[in-house]
Amino acid sequence: MDIEARRARLRDRRAAVLEPFETPVFVFFEEDIRANYRTLRGALDDHYPDSAIHFAVKANYNPGVLSILRSEGCRAEVYASGELSAALEAGFDPSELLLTGMNRRSADVERALEVGVEHLLVDNATELERLIDTAEATGTTPKVLVRGNPAMEVPTHPEVATATRETKFGLDIESGRAMAVAERTVASDAVELAGVQLHIGSQIRSVEPYAVAAREMLSFAAEIRDDLGVEIDVLDLGGGFPVPYDEPVPPATEIVETIATTVRERVAAHALSHPTLFLEPGRRLVGNAGTLLGTVGVVKETPYASFAVLDVGTNAVSSYWPYPVYAVADGEPDRTYDVAGPLCYTGDVLSEDVALPELAAGDVIAIDRVGAYSLGSASHTNAQPKPPVVLAREDGGVDVIRRPETPADVLEKAEVPDDLR
Ligand SMILES: Cc1ncc(COP(=O)(O)O)c(C=O)c1O
Repeated sequence: MDIEARRARLRDRRAAVLEPFETPVFVFFEEDIRANYRTLRGALDDHYPDSAIHFAVKANYNPGVLSILRSEGCRAEVYASGELSAALEAGFDPSELLLTGMNRRSADVERALEVGVEHLLVDNATELERLIDTAEATGTTPKVLVRGNPAMEVPTHPEVATATRETKFGLDIESGRAMAVAERTVASDAVELAGVQLHIGSQIRSVEPYAVAAREMLSFAAEIRDDLGVEIDVLDLGGGFPVPYDEPVPPATEIVETIATTVRERVAAHALSHPTLFLEPGRRLVGNAGTLLGTVGVVKETPYASFAVLDVGTNAVSSYWPYPVYAVADGEPDRTYDVAGPLCYTGDVLSEDVALPELAAGDVIAIDRVGAYSLGSASHTNAQPKPPVVLAREDGGVDVIRRPETPADVLEKAEVPDDLR
């Protein structure tokens, strides 16, 4: 759906989505989440049916959103214990979960194994030892995916590039660190080596990195077979599929086709058995499903710019990305504004030089495609409560999936020592 169609949909449903709380509010569209999942699943069914999509819960851990994906048949990748709780709350069967993480505490791993999580990612040798000890103590035999790092060039924002030389994530393949962890996994009776994993990074706007990743990980799988005599069952290529913020991105079919073709070629070249393909998309499944609505409170002209100041700012959205910003009501976009939030720092500008109709206090502005990572990275800067979340249902109704915070919620965990009262 292009931006004009998204604006028209919001305009038509404006009264209903603003009925529970007014602004600021996040609106998620159920139909978008379902369509995103079905498109990716459809591409996999066409090109690599032996596959499972694990939604990266970090992209949006609201149990209402997760429940929609679960009802579509999606599985979930949960990063440590907090996300495990969110997925269980959303009704996922633990056997459909993949526990990832870095520096998970033994208690977190123990809980995951006790509730029945079967697949766990291992990112370093220390955590493998913790997992082995915990598996022995719980009498379970978890299936391990070894997170490899092929030290690739990753074309995205450096803070979300993960399979690079510089990152803290994964086990370097070239130097033998990844192989050492695979070897220890195979040597232990407490765990089973199920496969290899990598996550390139987020918002990967071209398909070539997926081909590079598949080639690297299958050569690693072939080395494991040659050195340890074990064939992997699972090839997990992580997430990273992009959302069109301000430019077109490859369709799901193109990414999946590239992965499928490369996997088939390299499996044949190394004489490996065909692995089950796991993918862990987050952003792509929910990014375009969420819109933040704010209201203009002040239009402020300086000698250098026109600011439209909203009732919500950069504390409510994940940074880096050029989100589309537009007025919900009809009108010719013949003026230019810097759309700012109300927070006490100069950088609290959601978007600069936005073409908008002439604005006045009370106009509703959409910051669109903010459905991934925003709820998780929203902060209490200036002790601002986080916005509530409503779900625009496919049947035309609207449900609340996160109640609004109050100023009291922001201070709820704070304590004042008795002698300072
Ligand atoms: C291990 C892992 N898998 C999947 C993802 C999801 O990435 P994206 O939302 O870009 O698809 C991430 C993101 O950080 C990740 O760290």
